[in-house]
Amino acid sequence: MKKHLIPAILVVLLCACSAKLYEPTTANVSPGTTLEDLQKGKQIMFEKCGNCHGMPRPSRYTKEKWVSILDKMAPKSKITNDQKNLIYQYVTSVPK
Ligand code: HEC
Repeated sequence: MKKHLIPAILVVLLCACSAKLYEPTTANVSPGTTLEDLQKGKQIMFEKCGNCHGMPRPSRYTKEKWVSILDKMAPKSKITNDQKNLIYQYVTSVPK
C-alpha cells in the first residue's frame, strides 16, 4: 500500500508545480509570433530559468521590465539570442 502511495504523491506534487506556469493557446498568439514559438519559449524558460530561483511568473512584469530582466539573465543562463527572444515572446504573451 505505502509503496504505491509515495510515487502517487510525487506525481501530484510535480503536476501542481508545472501547472502554475502559464500555458499559451492560439488566443495568446499575436502578429509576428506563433503558438509553436510561445511553447518553445515556455520550454526553454522551464529548462534554463528555474535553477537559481523559483520559476518567474510571466504576468508579474511589464514588457519593458522583461527586456531588462532578460538582458541581465541571459548571460547567467547561457542562452542564445534566439532562445532569449523565444522566452521574451512567451512571457509577454500572457494575458494580464
Ligand atoms: C546563474 C543563476 C541564474 C539563472 C540561470 C537565472 N537567474 Fe534570474 N536571477 C538570479 C539572481 C541572483 C537574481 C537576483 C539578483 C538580480 O536581480 O540580479 C535573479 C533575479 C531574477 C528576476 C527578478 C528580477 C527583478 O528585478 O525582480 C527575474 C524575473 C529573473 N531572475 C528571471 C530569470 C529568467 C527569465 C532566467 C532565464 C533566462 C533566469 N532568471 C536565469 C540568478 C539567475
